[in-house]
Amino acid sequence: MGQGVSKIGDKIIFIPKTLPGEEGLCEVLQSKKGVEFAKLSSIELPSPDRVRAECPHFEDCPSCHYLHTSYANELLHKKNAIQKELRPITIQGEIEVIPADTRFDYRNRIQLHYDLNEEKIGYIDVKNKRINEVPHCLLPQKIIQEKVKSLYQNKFKGFPQKRETGHIEIYVNSKTNRVETAFNKAYAHAGFTQVNFEMNEKALSLIHSYVAPKINKTSLVIDLFGGKGNLSRAFSTSNTYVVDKYHPKYIPKNDIQKFINLDIFKKKSHKNLAKQVGGECDVLLIDPPRSGFKNIKLFTDVLKPKVIVYMSCKTSTMVRDLLSIDNEYHFHKAHLLDFFPATYHYESLIFANFK
Ligand SMILES: C[S@@+](CC[C@H](N)C(=O)[O-])C[C@H]1O[C@@H](n2cnc3c(N)ncnc32)[C@H](O)[C@@H]1O
Repeated sequence: MGQGVSKIGDKIIFIPKTLPGEEGLCEVLQSKKGVEFAKLSSIELPSPDRVRAECPHFEDCPSCHYLHTSYANELLHKKNAIQKELRPITIQGEIEVIPADTRFDYRNRIQLHYDLNEEKIGYIDVKNKRINEVPHCLLPQKIIQEKVKSLYQNKFKGFPQKRETGHIEIYVNSKTNRVETAFNKAYAHAGFTQVNFEMNEKALSLIHSYVAPKINKTSLVIDLFGGKGNLSRAFSTSNTYVVDKYHPKYIPKNDIQKFINLDIFKKKSHKNLAKQVGGECDVLLIDPPRSGFKNIKLFTDVLKPKVIVYMSCKTSTMVRDLLSIDNEYHFHKAHLLDFFPATYHYESLIFANFK
């Protein structure tokens, strides 16, 4: 996804940052079981959809995938991608694409890797583990961009000298609206938070408009993989349970939602949860990590939700999970929420109801 494909004989070559119909030269970087991974060297016949990337790091940076074309075209490619991925399940109606208002300046946190020996700070390329320097990265919010620039200007000032390699998280503290940094911590910003505030608001309002008419003050809502309760915070029912595998210090204080600390992937966790919430529920919100929610059916069998809202950053695992409950549920609306403009990532959101 998000990359060009070429063919020489039977061999398939993936070439990122190219567009359909383009001709040019590439350098093969890696071969694996009849598939090659290459890097574009030069373009001889550019697509009419090609534009000059606004970011000076685009060619070498592993983080962005679409800056060689317009945002409108990026969204078209993303829509094609989600359409293909959703094919195995039957969904009523068109897929609704919800774009971001801005293609840049949106991330409220980023993670940079550093290597004191190599004197480098930047994004890590997972393919070759190399650090790509990105002093002018446009994805984070402007106040983070300023902090990144100052990190490069004062290279390694204040970095822990005991550890030669590590990572630094740069994030906006949502309470103070100030930029903070943390070295070598898993969740520096106190538990999981969505990286794009503006798109998160759009997702919340969409979910709210769907769920609110279906619940009342006593409806039972379960927010699975709920983190700090983001997706269900605005519901009016006093019977909302947020379920997550927390580190205890991340459990928020909150009078409306009840928090349950549970490993959802653990054997019998469905029975454990059903006991704690008292049985069948009205609405089940699901927002798992990229690996998805393989044991979804165990939960829907005991909780019998009338409505399911499934949000996912990896459509293929979501489709796998929904296929396991498609005898019992109608999937009647799918959305692509563009939480991650300029990259090939997005959030998929599907509403379902009991047949
Ligand atoms: C994509 S985040 C969603 C968080 C939340 N819905 C939000 O909007 O902020 C996935 C969440 O799944 C949680 N998680 C990961 N593995 C888990 C497990 N085995 N059991 C319970 N929660 C888990 C993580 O702690 C994280 O909060």
